[in-house]
Amino acid sequence: MLLKLNHIYKWVKSGGRRVFLLNDLNLTIEKGEFISLMGPSGSGKSTLFNVIAMLDTFDEGDYFFENETIHDLNSKQKTKLFNENIGFIFQAYHLLDDLTVYENIETPLLYKKIKSSERKALVADMLDKFNIVGKKDLFPHQLSGGQQQLVGIARALIIKPKLILADEPTGNLNSTQSDEIMQLFKDLNTEGITIIQATHSESNAAYGSRLIKLLDGSVNNK
Ligand SMILES: Nc1ncnc2c1ncn2[C@@H]1O[C@H](COP(=O)(O)OP(=O)(O)OP(=O)(O)O)[C@@H](O)[C@H]1O
Ligand SMILES: [Mg+2]
Repeated sequence: MLLKLNHIYKWVKSGGRRVFLLNDLNLTIEKGEFISLMGPSGSGKSTLFNVIAMLDTFDEGDYFFENETIHDLNSKQKTKLFNENIGFIFQAYHLLDDLTVYENIETPLLYKKIKSSERKALVADMLDKFNIVGKKDLFPHQLSGGQQQLVGIARALIIKPKLILADEPTGNLNSTQSDEIMQLFKDLNTEGITIIQATHSESNAAYGSRLIKLLDGSVNNK
């Protein structure tokens, strides 16, 4: 088992009532799975990713990541687990505006205290792999949406994470680029990396080996 969510609830208060973003959500992911997560807009896919990534809290339930009980950890411990294990491709990229493409991609390596010469080599590999060598000194606002998305993917993959969370990772790419990213995911999955991708695309979903459907904040596989 890589991770397990047991009876997870997350809500916001609105006009004195609870509005549930996650509603009795149960999910077990085994090591080495490639999951496609689908569900209508607003069903809670991004919310779920933030919980799995430990970037956001939940109100009730238990969350286990490998041997850790996440609901018992403080935020510093959670950040450490995230930095060491998870590559997150955000739906809205979340690049750091005042860092260049090069520096954005390098950031996760700094958290892992990888030495300078090795960092240079790894970033150069990523720039090459994603065909963005010529963009390395530009800032995010100087890139197209698709280029920003590629930088976000490169940044997530550079640490060879145990788990990749990809939230609509190819939404701004053309179909050729999109298929290349899906093929890359498939290769990484073959190497043993667990992948969860949220997608509205049937053809992207088909790359996964298990489909999970989300509806109104809970898993709905009926
Ligand atoms: N901080 C918040 N306060 C209130 N409501 C929120 C908050 N964050 C998310 N929501 C609501 O939770 C629901 C789930 O949102 P979420 O972003 O997880 O959906 P999604 O499945 O990722 O949708 P999409 O496919 O459009 O990306 C939405 O109805 C959204 O408005
Ligand atoms: Mg979303």
